[in-house]
Amino acid sequence: MIPENAGPAAVIVLAAGAGTRMKSRTPKILHEIGGLSLVGHALRAARSINPQRLAIVVRHERDLVAGHVSALDPDAVIVDQDDVPGTGRAVEAALEALHAEQGLAGTVVVTYGDVPLLSGELLGELVATHERDGNAVTVLTAVLDDATGYGRILRGEDGSVTGIREHRDSSEAERLIREVNSGIYAFDAAMLRDALGKVTTDNAQGEKYLTDVLSLARAAGGRVAAVVTADRWQVEGANDRVQLAALGAELNRRTVEGWMRAGVTVVDPATTWIDASVTLDEDVRLLPNTQLHGATTVARDAVVGPDTTLTDVTVGEGATVVRTHGSGSVIGPRAAVGPFTYLRPGTVLGEKGKIGAFYETKNVTIGRGSKLSHLGYAGDAEIGEDTNIGCGNITANYDGEKKHRTVIGSGVRTGSNTVFVAPVTVGDGAYSGAGAVIRKDVPAGALALSVAAQRNAEGWVPANRPGTRSAELAQAATQNSSSTPASTEEGK
Ligand code: UD1
Ligand code: MG
Repeated sequence: MIPENAGPAAVIVLAAGAGTRMKSRTPKILHEIGGLSLVGHALRAARSINPQRLAIVVRHERDLVAGHVSALDPDAVIVDQDDVPGTGRAVEAALEALHAEQGLAGTVVVTYGDVPLLSGELLGELVATHERDGNAVTVLTAVLDDATGYGRILRGEDGSVTGIREHRDSSEAERLIREVNSGIYAFDAAMLRDALGKVTTDNAQGEKYLTDVLSLARAAGGRVAAVVTADRWQVEGANDRVQLAALGAELNRRTVEGWMRAGVTVVDPATTWIDASVTLDEDVRLLPNTQLHGATTVARDAVVGPDTTLTDVTVGEGATVVRTHGSGSVIGPRAAVGPFTYLRPGTVLGEKGKIGAFYETKNVTIGRGSKLSHLGYAGDAEIGEDTNIGCGNITANYDGEKKHRTVIGSGVRTGSNTVFVAPVTVGDGAYSGAGAVIRKDVPAGALALSVAAQRNAEGWVPANRPGTRSAELAQAATQNSSSTPASTEEGK
């Protein structure tokens, strides 16, 4: 039984091409924009119209591409294209893999793996028009200022689409046509299979052109039509790194605009980069130079930035995150992070907690209201509630071979430059003195002191560094202080 909301019979994504203009060891469609590969974007659009089958045609770097696709979309049918080149051959291979000869009926959509801004809405509109009008082929087209390189849409005197002519095969007059083939189509499955059987490689590139199907469909009495989109970005492919960057910037512009319309303040959209996978609440404020990646989420009233990069970070309601580089972390509600803070994976900061300037954290859970305000490192640690970790504290978690845990209770106050030599436990309400090196567990309520009592060797500098500026100043200071009692007496 086919569910009522079923989309087209199949979507075929073409991705066999080499993408040589990218000049990369990475296959073109594995390059990313907005935190997702080009082919990832294509699969998302394809899936959103709910096809009964989804096939992707591969050849160049076959194993790499197939592995990537299967990881993203385990149900996608991977189709290998043979030595015969051309988009027509690619579709033919997909139809074979989908056993079209056993009666694949209805609409077959063809898209490309390297057209990342194509939306599910536009694809859905193409299918709806195609099915409503009972077309044999409906091609998505756009009118460009510079149509160089694209297949041109040929129309009869009545304006109906009669075919597509590839740039290299076109006459001078045809090259003046500005309406181009996007390479995205809806076909009637049976017609497509019949027509592809008749397509030859008799053209400038010696390829089996999918575009030849249009004139063949028309000759067989089918309706051929076009959906013209005014949004050229949705049909633009990424062929080189210049286009990749332009498409990435446009995708980001759209994502940022979408969030602003949903109630997020973005002070500087041009320097704010948000992956498609990020989610933001209303009344979040993003300050300039902020990049949000992966599964990052930001809750209401939080302020992120300026100059902050977060990957897979959960930011709680009303938190502030300033000049921070973070990944795999959780920042609690109304907590404060930064400036100049490095949150590494496994950092969990409780409500109203603080990780301040020049702090690095990793795999550490920090309880509600606890503060690590300045200069330090906390790794493999657990810190209770309302604890204040003094300036310059460090967990010495690595013995050269293994990592060890530091457990610090609630209501603890540690002196500046305390070092916790893990494994070690500090009880609730304990204190440590400045410069303490905590090698033994500290019981609740104890003051831990590990630094030897201070001893002053009087006159050491003038005696051992004679003639230096330090010695001169020391001698002057000693003389002044010895004359002080006299002046005090005078003042009586
Ligand atoms: C194709 C169209 C052209 C259209 C343009 C839009 C044909 C004959 N021409 O031209 O009308 O204006 O796209 O970008 O279809 N591919 C395969 N197997 C192949 C060849 C290509 O899977 O044997 C895939 C590529 O990976 C790519 C897509 O099909 O994703 C288009 O291939 P490409 O070589 O870029 O086609 P164009 O010559 O640009
Ligand atoms: Mg192309």
